[in-house]
Amino acid sequence: MQRQQPIGIFDSGVGGLSIGRAIREALPYEDLVYFADIEFSPYGVKCTEVINQRCEYIVNFLLKQGCKVIVIACNTATVNSIKYLRTQFAIPIIGVEPGIKPAALQSKTGIIGILATEKTLQSASYAQLTAKFSKQVNILSRACPKFVTLVESLQHNSDQAVTVAEQYINPLLAAGCDQIILGCTHFSFLRSAIEKVLGTEAAIIDTAIAVAKQLENRLYELNLLRPGEINGEAWFFSSAVNASAIDVMSKLWGDEVHRSAVRL
Ligand code: DGL
Repeated sequence: MQRQQPIGIFDSGVGGLSIGRAIREALPYEDLVYFADIEFSPYGVKCTEVINQRCEYIVNFLLKQGCKVIVIACNTATVNSIKYLRTQFAIPIIGVEPGIKPAALQSKTGIIGILATEKTLQSASYAQLTAKFSKQVNILSRACPKFVTLVESLQHNSDQAVTVAEQYINPLLAAGCDQIILGCTHFSFLRSAIEKVLGTEAAIIDTAIAVAKQLENRLYELNLLRPGEINGEAWFFSSAVNASAIDVMSKLWGDEVHRSAVRL
């Protein structure tokens, strides 16, 4: 592997751009290749075999783009498929998991809430993760499928987003949660709607910056950090061939996305 090679990042859709943005901020000199599996989104209701298959396909695609490391910018794919992927590929693979540890450390009420996909909440890895903290805090979970659709359709800043957030989060607040974990990368884009519902009652836990930091440490250990001379480029791919995929990615990335979609 060479330091000049890009970092590969993927998600079921555009949610992983929240991790991509944190990586761009932390590691401005790196080239990035982002893959959004929009044609197969959402992963949150798919079976593990399909998620494994899609992830394997995408990692192969990112390897063909010359990536030096893979970031699974998707909680659902991480908790269900990272172990499998590590048996299939030698390339370093970093994932994202719900931030239960920081939430447990910061909670004063001893009750924390997690928002995630159904498939994340049902996974064995999630059960293991929660078991580690179950003596310390009471963990309440809520599957939020409508959140993913709101972000994919760029409705994340709408009044409807606030209404949906109220439906999902009010029961958690009523139960005493003082920390709300964003256990899906799409949900970072709903921060403003979620904040309106939380007010001062609870804090948001988002692991995007921690993932970028972990990636930086890993690249440093592997001597694969790209030297800081010029700002890196970012390329975007999607399994959905339509103009709106590019438009949605451009709007959430905050810059023009300069590569057309490809069908895999
Ligand atoms: N962004 C993905 C995650 O972090 C899930 C969205 C989906 O259901 O595809 O879990």
